[in-house]
Amino acid sequence: MKILQFGRTGQVATAVQVAAHGRADIVALSRADCDLENPEAVRAAILAADCDLVLNAAAFTQVDPAEARPDEAFAVNATAPGVMAAACAERGLPFVHLSTDAVFDGLTDRPYVETDEARPINVYGRSKLAGERAVLAYPRTTVLRISWVFSRYGRNYVSFMLRLAREREVLKIVADQFGSPTDGEALADFLVATAPRWAKAPAEDPAFGLFHFANPGEASRFDFAQAAIDRDPHARARLERTSQAAFAEPAPRPPRSPLDTGKLQAVFGFTPEPWRSAVERTADRLVATGF
Ligand SMILES: NC(=O)c1ccc[n+]([C@@H]2O[C@H](COP(=O)([O-])OP(=O)(O)OC[C@H]3O[C@@H](n4cnc5c(N)ncnc54)[C@H](OP(=O)(O)O)[C@@H]3O)[C@@H](O)[C@H]2O)c1
Repeated sequence: MKILQFGRTGQVATAVQVAAHGRADIVALSRADCDLENPEAVRAAILAADCDLVLNAAAFTQVDPAEARPDEAFAVNATAPGVMAAACAERGLPFVHLSTDAVFDGLTDRPYVETDEARPINVYGRSKLAGERAVLAYPRTTVLRISWVFSRYGRNYVSFMLRLAREREVLKIVADQFGSPTDGEALADFLVATAPRWAKAPAEDPAFGLFHFANPGEASRFDFAQAAIDRDPHARARLERTSQAAFAEPAPRPPRSPLDTGKLQAVFGFTPEPWRSAVERTADRLVATGF
């Protein structure tokens, strides 16, 4: 199995390269290899690749800076994925793309299903939704919406909270924003394990289309942080609850955006574990190896 991956140093990109070890050959393109703001370079990379599947693990992921840089966010999150999907269709290659719970407005009283209407409330969410629509116009394309990704790699909430909890006496954590944490290493394992199915599947296979991938159960940002920090015997910070409004960030966040994974389970037979045990295992590993 040969995979061409956009993204080399990001959190998910790193997790996929680790998961692929001994199972698939990955060529992972960094920004220096292929800048997603350059559509011709994106297309050329796919047309020249020797691969069975293309995976896009790169994105403009900075939610607050995106408010001031919408052209860049749309170029990377919408135009480039559309070019990737078109080039894959030209070559008959399957294409797998990642999206986000930020396509929703967060005004829900139950986990979102794939057929719920997407109504993003910030530039990042709008650019990611435009990307979904651009890629799903092509055959043999899969979009996995993920949320609140954590792992042992890259910039992520669990390692960030563990670090802060050793440095500070008090941590004020948002307690009125709710979502589904997503184990980035389980996601990476799923992507590598499912690659052969996508590679062989005809366009009408249900493995193509839009899916939600997250660990079940709903967590507040506060619960998420507390679950990680409780695993570190050297953590010294006391956690205090605060509100999203108190942070006054440039980009609004959906207040409640848990993702329902019923379709993922039905089509792939994959049941993610509840979020808390996955967060605890990742925190234990980070505490054991340093972060
Ligand atoms: N992290 C989350 O909580 C979360 C939640 C929901 C959805 N997602 C989605 O999951 C996917 C992976 O996210 P992640 O957490 O792994 O993100 P990340 O750690 O921020 O990594 C983003 C990657 O994209 C690359 N990139 C950004 N702009 C680029 C450009 N112009 N050209 C080429 N490469 C570029 C970065 O390269 P450099 O290192 O060179 O900048 C980096 O490798 C994205 O589609 C994201 O929208 C993430």
